[in-house]
Amino acid sequence: GGVTTIDPGYKNTGSCESAITFLDGEKGILRYRGYSIEELAEKASFLEVAYLLIFGELPTQTQLDKFHSDIKAQSVVDDDVKKILDAFPKSAHPMGVLSSLTSALTAFNPSSVNVDSEEDMYNAIVRILGKFPVLVAWTLRKKKGLPLDYGDSSIGYVENVLKMMFKQPNEDYKMNPILVDALDKLLILHADHEQNCSTSTVRIVGSSHAGLFASLSAGISALWGPLHGGANQAVLEMLEAIKEDGGDTKKYMGKAKDKEDPFRLMGFGHRVYKNFDPRAKIIKVAADEVLGDLGVEDPILDIAKGLEREALEDDYFVKRKLYPNVDFYSGIIYRAMGIPVEMFTVMFALGRLPGWIAQWREMRLRKEPIGRPRQVYVGENTRDFVEISKR
Ligand code: CMC
Repeated sequence: GGVTTIDPGYKNTGSCESAITFLDGEKGILRYRGYSIEELAEKASFLEVAYLLIFGELPTQTQLDKFHSDIKAQSVVDDDVKKILDAFPKSAHPMGVLSSLTSALTAFNPSSVNVDSEEDMYNAIVRILGKFPVLVAWTLRKKKGLPLDYGDSSIGYVENVLKMMFKQPNEDYKMNPILVDALDKLLILHADHEQNCSTSTVRIVGSSHAGLFASLSAGISALWGPLHGGANQAVLEMLEAIKEDGGDTKKYMGKAKDKEDPFRLMGFGHRVYKNFDPRAKIIKVAADEVLGDLGVEDPILDIAKGLEREALEDDYFVKRKLYPNVDFYSGIIYRAMGIPVEMFTVMFALGRLPGWIAQWREMRLRKEPIGRPRQVYVGENTRDFVEISKR
């Protein structure tokens, strides 16, 4: 028989058991494998967190070194991928490009599709961890009209990301430790968030035993939307629009509360956090620090803080338990780092990659069944066919 009840948006439906990320939305708690997000953001590196999420334990130095060198050994992308990238118009949104290239990688690495052993899985995982930052950097470089380079295997994972993104031709790239720290922290804060829209997508696509790269490509597409990862781009565009409009935050608060107006306060509200988003707290402080360290004064930060202040005192937002989320301040940091607005969600994807991988691996190791929800049918009953000439 069919089902009789539904749960639109799966607001109250658990899809799996998971041992990766713990989230308590009432108390504002987020932990990866039992470690608090605050402590990880402060003390761990992004690659350590990736290892932790995927394999369940913090790595020893030896394990981390091996992991990093396995990733580096896989950080070359087939030259034909450059041709695919070249075929996109310069105006293409980086998220569409990234999703396509990630899917295209399957064609060049067919052995990563059928993963029947943990070893196959490991190989597919280090492969994508090696190649993904190259795709991210190339996506940006293509937009900027810069030559497509490879990274530098003598430096850290996150340092290499920055260098690949920003190195100018014939330039001796100078690493700025403030940017490295800021990016490391942002990536850690984005690394996993249990069964969110993109992660559920990765798990459900992977549950058909489609390959890892195809599953990740679907996750990237899910992340693109403004209600999910695309919110970081939407926040900055909103703050810009408010600035252009004379900084009238009250007007936009009014629009957000008006049910006739489709406008929402981007970067506010969360499906699970009903008290505060612990990531937003860390990012708010980081935004102040990074802008201070870089000597950047951005009037947009003041507009953001003003909006937050007003919203936290406003009945509409208080009653609905709407607080700033991870995306509210992250774009301000990315912008100060020189990352173009259209690339913000790509940076989110880079951070979320280990989480997607960990969730996909867990799903496969637990031999979960194919994801296949049911429905309540509300369409027409039996009807007689009418010839086209008689309709
Ligand atoms: N501005 C104005 N009103 C809002 C907002 C907002 N940002 N968010 C929720 N509401 C209202 C909504 O209209 C509804 O009001 P009512 O009860 O009167 O109908 C109530 O609050 C509950 O909202 P909902 O849409 O039913 O909640 P949801 O759990 O389905 O949606 C959300 C969660 C994050 C999609 C939503 O809060 C939103 O659209 N926020 C803006 C986009 C955003 O910042 N997304 C990033 C989320 S965090 C990181 C990530 O996932 O990438």
